Amino acid sequence: MGNGIAQVFAQAGFDVRLVDAASGALDRARASIEKSVAKLVEKGRLTATERDGALQRLSTGTNVDLLADSDYVVEAIFEDKQAKQSLFARLDQLTRPDVILASNTSSISITTLGAATNRPDRVLGMHFMNPVPLMSLVELIRGQATSPESMLTAAELCIRLNKTAVEASDYPGFIANRVLMPMVNEAIFAVMEGVGTADAIDTVMKLGMNHPMGPLTLADFIGLDVCLAILEVLHEGLGDPKYRP
Ligand code: CAA
Repeated sequence: MGNGIAQVFAQAGFDVRLVDAASGALDRARASIEKSVAKLVEKGRLTATERDGALQRLSTGTNVDLLADSDYVVEAIFEDKQAKQSLFARLDQLTRPDVILASNTSSISITTLGAATNRPDRVLGMHFMNPVPLMSLVELIRGQATSPESMLTAAELCIRLNKTAVEASDYPGFIANRVLMPMVNEAIFAVMEGVGTADAIDTVMKLGMNHPMGPLTLADFIGLDVCLAILEVLHEGLGDPKYRP
């Protein structure tokens, strides 16, 4: 999702540094951003000048030190608590103490990420939806120590990004995945038990409930590894067997 997040910030006029440990991922990100902005121009949602400006404002690199003079950071690495905590500790050393460190986590505790830093008041969740350039929602998550000022800054940023912010408390999976993932999980159980084929289940939800994608197609779109990681957070954090993946 990092490339989509970088794209919407660049489109909104911000200078963006997109960092990934793997240079191949950065090449794919740039290609995907170029394809996406081209599509938006084709649809009349972006002018050619805006497209060129956005691409010029975007730079990439594999060294996290590139973020040293950032004014705002959004983390979007894979869904693993330890990996995110060690990155937050590194970002805390690297950036100015007044900088907000936001996480695009789908489910991991913002309070726990904040506790890996010396600025838990400036750590919050900024959860975008895939595909980021098309989906208008951002879930904003307030950790136990997140300050009202940090939440306000993030909410104002969402307005500049042309997104609608909805605030959620720091419970496992927040709102989006607390509601979405049990449906995805149930669809997978329904395949396992032979209630219907994958196609049948997706068609029922598409035509019967007007979902743009069936839950199994959506699970592939999100990534089954990500779905599993989120369900494990729900299962462990809420302690109810109904969340078992
Ligand atoms: N940038 C620009 N344009 C894009 C794009 C992108 N990143 N991705 C797709 N498009 C374009 C397509 O090229 C297509 O253009 P044409 O009409 O010219 O062909 C257009 O958008 C519509 O796409 P499609 O025809 O392929 O399909 P669609 O009408 O079904 O729309 C969709 C695609 C918006 C993804 C829609 O299927 C949808 O809303 N699906 C559900 C998405 C969803 O639920 N997202 C949330 C997932 S959960 C999550 O992200 C968070 C988490 O924590 C797990």
